[in-house]
This record gives sequence, structure tokens and C-alpha cells, in this order.
Amino acid sequence: MEVLEVANYEEMSMTATRILLNKMNHTQKVTLGLATGATPRGMYQMLVASHQEKGVSFRNVQTVNLDEYVGLERHHPSSYHTYMAMHFFRWIDIDRSHTHLPNGKAEDLTLECFRYEDLIHHMGGVDLQVLGLGRNGHIGFNEPGTSFHARTHVVELARSTRRANARYFAREDEVPSRAITMGIATILESREIVLLASGSGKSEAITRLLEGKIQHQFPATALLEHPKVTMIVDREALIRQ
Ligand code: F6R
Repeated sequence: MEVLEVANYEEMSMTATRILLNKMNHTQKVTLGLATGATPRGMYQMLVASHQEKGVSFRNVQTVNLDEYVGLERHHPSSYHTYMAMHFFRWIDIDRSHTHLPNGKAEDLTLECFRYEDLIHHMGGVDLQVLGLGRNGHIGFNEPGTSFHARTHVVELARSTRRANARYFAREDEVPSRAITMGIATILESREIVLLASGSGKSEAITRLLEGKIQHQFPATALLEHPKVTMIVDREALIRQ
């Protein structure tokens, strides 16, 4: 795992943007794995700016997101479908039929998980997966204790995760209790992974990850088994706990 230490959130976003643009430049039809949350927002802003100000095109890009809440309509203001549209897709020239998220409203959720796995497979796998980091070590919505062999599946969200995500809802009890997430095995099949972390809120998780021991109670340590992971971490997140 390569660790890139950067000064702050802006530099983290800029470094991630550069890596994504470089991947797009060197891959004919690139598949990006994308995350939501506060962490990648700056990166999306910079990617949008690269389109609007420098004419970078996303026509040859296809995307798969890590996760979506179960039970939310795609147009719900707090769905990840909405997040991706608002922060990224609506501002660039990507073909919307090339952007994919799990369908949290599917009638048969098990079937939906199989469909999503199949979709990723038929897209040729993920060239570059962007990840944020949960304070409890989750990646995607793979909570502590999840098998590292899990593929796309339905998860019960940890109380701490629901609490952390309550800021995107009117009330904490509106945060869905379940989500569909790519599994750790699915994530590890990406050819390359970029993990982003910024701010003191992530420093405990980063300290644990940098210990370098694989622990099922800390899902992000699964990344230690992957041959091509770049961690972009700002100074505050690197302060040892
Ligand atoms: C989001 C996701 C989550 C977040 C994590 C960190 O698609 O998969 O794992 O990356 O919860 O969230 P933020 O960035 O809001 O701290």
C-alpha cells in the first residue's frame, strides 16, 4: 500500500483528481468505481471543473457506485443516486446510461445483488475504485465483522454509521437501517484502488490501518491484501491516536 501524505482536504482532492484523470487518459474505455459521502466531494468538484474549464470529456467513462440505501426512491434527496447526480453526473458529459448504482428499491434484493455483480463482470471489472473510510473501518458499507469473501450483498447498518450519516437526513430515525453494498471481495477485484481520508475524525481509523495487521473487525485492513492501493491521507488524519 502506497501512502501519499498531503497537507489538507484540498490537496487530497487534487491528488485524487489527478490520478483519475491520468487513468482516463491511459485507458480507452475506463470503468471507475465511485463512492459517496463527504470525502470525495472535493474530488468531484475538481473533476467537474476539469470538464467545464478544460474540456475534459467523460464520454468514454462508465461508473459503478459502491452502495445505495435500501428503501429509498432514487429521487429521494438523500439517496446516493441523487448525491451522484447533484455532485457529479449532471455537470459532465457522461452518458447517464453508463452510470450505475445498486437499486435499493428492487423487489427482490438478493436478485438485485446478483444483477449488480453480473453488471460489474460484464463491464469488464473496475479499473480504478475510489474509497472513503468509515470511522469504524468500513469500506463501502461493509461493517466490522463482514467476511472478506463477501460479494455484493444487503447489510444492516451499524448504529454508528447511521448516526454519522444522519446529517444527510432530517432525523436520525429516517436513515435507512439497510443498504446494498459491493462486498469486500468485489472491491478487492478492482485493478487499482484509491483510498481517501481527511481530518482528525479519521485519524483513529488511519492509525489502525497503518498498523498493517489484517483484522476482520476492521474491514479496511482487507486492502492490505491488494497489490495496488494508494492511500491519500491529509496531515490531520495522519496524527497518531
Ligand atoms: C460511501 C461509502 C462509505 C463512505 C464512508 C466515509 O459510498 O461507501 O464507506 O466512504 O462512510 O464517509 P465520509 O466520506 O462521509 O466520511
